[in-house]
Amino acid sequence: MTQTQFTPRVFSGIQPSGGLTLGNYLGAMKRFVDMQGPEFETIYCMVDLHAITVWQDPAALSHNTRELCAGYIAAGIDPEQSILFNQSQVPEHAQLAWIFNCVARMGWMQRMTQWKDKAGKNTQNASLGLFAYPALMAADILIYHATHVPVGEDQKQHLELTRDIAIKFNNDFGVDFFPVTEPVIEGAATRVMSLRDGSKKMSKSDPSDMSRINMTDDADTIAKKIRKAKTDPDALPSEVDGLEDRPEARNLVNIYAALSDSSAAQVLAEVGGKQFGEFKPMLAELAVEKLSPISSEMARLMGEQSEIDQILARGAEKARAIAAPILKQTYEIVGMVGAASR
Ligand code: AMP
Ligand code: TRP
Repeated sequence: MTQTQFTPRVFSGIQPSGGLTLGNYLGAMKRFVDMQGPEFETIYCMVDLHAITVWQDPAALSHNTRELCAGYIAAGIDPEQSILFNQSQVPEHAQLAWIFNCVARMGWMQRMTQWKDKAGKNTQNASLGLFAYPALMAADILIYHATHVPVGEDQKQHLELTRDIAIKFNNDFGVDFFPVTEPVIEGAATRVMSLRDGSKKMSKSDPSDMSRINMTDDADTIAKKIRKAKTDPDALPSEVDGLEDRPEARNLVNIYAALSDSSAAQVLAEVGGKQFGEFKPMLAELAVEKLSPISSEMARLMGEQSEIDQILARGAEKARAIAAPILKQTYEIVGMVGAASR
């Protein structure tokens, strides 16, 4: 079979299921911004259909979707250069997801660690959508024939499943239609940890607000959370090896590195030997310097709701122009009567 050449195209998404955290920013959004440019077409999404796999209050979902859009723009996503939209406005995602529900196997889904974590002990009471979540994610990516997907470390398994779905579809139908997507999991902060517990991921759903930095936190709150972040009593090492078995220290160093566009090794070359009493104020100052302009721009944009809604509507239109022909071809491959003439 000939290898189809796919247009270099980036797709990624974030759930509007709560406020944005520093983990989302450093692990995902900041890297989405870095990938804008001549090398790739870039498509970024607010995945509201994914969010509702667990209960979302309707008013909060609308608010969070707009706030996430404001966050994308404030962080540096240019809606002229990138396609920016919310998932539910492009019905082709859900349509392709149905096809993929019929390609993916129960056993594949059952192995997903995010399913196991989110469903908890009472799997019988989890939504069917939560179980099918990774097939919708594969559809998000493959409805654009996206070749590259920047995400945080926690999404690695879902991207492997996306590759498996593409390969099985291509094999089952004897085509070379869907690309085998490359995960892009890079940078100093692919897994930002909780500020209270270095073994847990920083998450918008953690009950403790002190565990995370929210992109809407003001300067005093950011400084307080960093000051109170859990650490150990030792001084910082001068080399990365010295962070072994020191998850909290490693986390703060990684955050510093990602915020300053450097690496943990470069940071430690500078701050090795310092105590946390000295390092934490440096980190707080850097975090406030980098995050305050984003949070104030988010707040300004949230005052311009109609502007946000227009950006989303325009983005959805541009996204559909790519997605619709790919869905049509998929239907033709599968043998759906009528697909070819639409
Ligand atoms: P979510 O908020 O679950 O929709 O995640 C959106 C994006 O942010 C995904 O690419 C995640 O991998 C990334 N992400 C979420 N939390 C973290 C974290 N603590 N560290 C690094 N990346 C994260
Ligand atoms: N599952 C991702 C998360 O929770 C969000 C997501 C949905 C996504 N669809 C995607 C990420 C497609 C990348 C590509 O983080």
